[in-house]
Amino acid sequence: MIPVNEPRLDGHELEYVTECLQTGWISSAGHFIAEFEDSWASYCGRRHGVAVCNGTVALQLAVAALNLGPGDEVIMPSFTIISCAMAVVYQGAVPVLVDADPATWCMDVSQVAAKITPRTKAIMPVHIYGHPVDMDPLLELAKKHGLAIIEDAAEAHGAQYLSNRDTDPKWQRCGSFGDLSCFSFYANKLVTTGEGGMVVTDDDALAERLRLLRNLAFIPSQRFLHEELGFNFRLTNVQAAIGKAQVERIGETVETKRRVGARYLEALTSIPGIRMQVERPWARSVWWMNGLVLEKGSGHNAVSLAKRLAALGVETRPFFLGLDRQPALRRRGLFDGESYPVTEELADMGLYLPSGVGLTEEQQETVIAAVKQVLA
Ligand SMILES: Cc1ncc(COP(=O)(O)O)c(C=O)c1O
Repeated sequence: MIPVNEPRLDGHELEYVTECLQTGWISSAGHFIAEFEDSWASYCGRRHGVAVCNGTVALQLAVAALNLGPGDEVIMPSFTIISCAMAVVYQGAVPVLVDADPATWCMDVSQVAAKITPRTKAIMPVHIYGHPVDMDPLLELAKKHGLAIIEDAAEAHGAQYLSNRDTDPKWQRCGSFGDLSCFSFYANKLVTTGEGGMVVTDDDALAERLRLLRNLAFIPSQRFLHEELGFNFRLTNVQAAIGKAQVERIGETVETKRRVGARYLEALTSIPGIRMQVERPWARSVWWMNGLVLEKGSGHNAVSLAKRLAALGVETRPFFLGLDRQPALRRRGLFDGESYPVTEELADMGLYLPSGVGLTEEQQETVIAAVKQVLA
């Protein structure tokens, strides 16, 4: 079976991890943590990086650091992973949804203004499957209404967005737009530490607060006195050692992923009955996942296509189910009577193909042949 994802760990990963084991620095103390944080923050063009143990808690830490709580609303896409809503709900705040854009599958930014209320405190854009959200209109709204941006770049390491395209165009990396910007380093990401995450920011005070809350809110001046409840969201030195090695070859990883994305597009886009994610002229996606959306009338849905591809040795994954359809959230009284038709179609008709950093050209050709066999 060709796996949906396989990491590449053939750089300095083994050497750095071995150093941790040989020196005994296996906890969240050790020099790889700061080195990993600095190298990733600097790649994203940010002043600070605060490493945590996964991308879900990176989002939660961001919400907590901004002191969002009961009554506060955070606008986010309906088409995203549950982590986005969890991060907000765990802090007692309320997720408010907008539908996906039918072409980029990211949040439809034109729907955001209508969802802003006096309780809105933040917007959480999510760069879906490696394609940047159209950030300029969001940044403008945030400025106008005094909202924070919590950028979820968990799927978009190294992706770029052309900001100020009408006046002073500039390519900027995802992860550079939020007051706080969050990453996941799960094993299927472009940079992995197995499990891991990071919040990056330019704000010195927020960075300090993130560090405090990550580490049980220990006060430096008096250990074991706690003025507030923090979290243990620490990453280990062993994971950071892997991360440091991964960041060393991010340039090559991004090139590989863009090549794989372009090859899938070229080979599959003209097959009748399917749609693929559209890369806008203002976006350089990293094609974290290469998705197919079946059109109604194609004779397939995501489940039936997945079965046929599995029989041909190709692993796939279904798309996210909309947040508005999650029983765990609906039971809390959220999203009652709301509907998000684009998200619904993506969820029912979408799946993604093997897309990992470790995918070989030969494997990709096998995947393409299998898709053509079933659909063409
Ligand atoms: C958009 C998005 N946000 C957050 C997360 C959560 O990251 P983690 O799995 O590291 O908790 C993911 C995970 O894949 C994700 O895709």
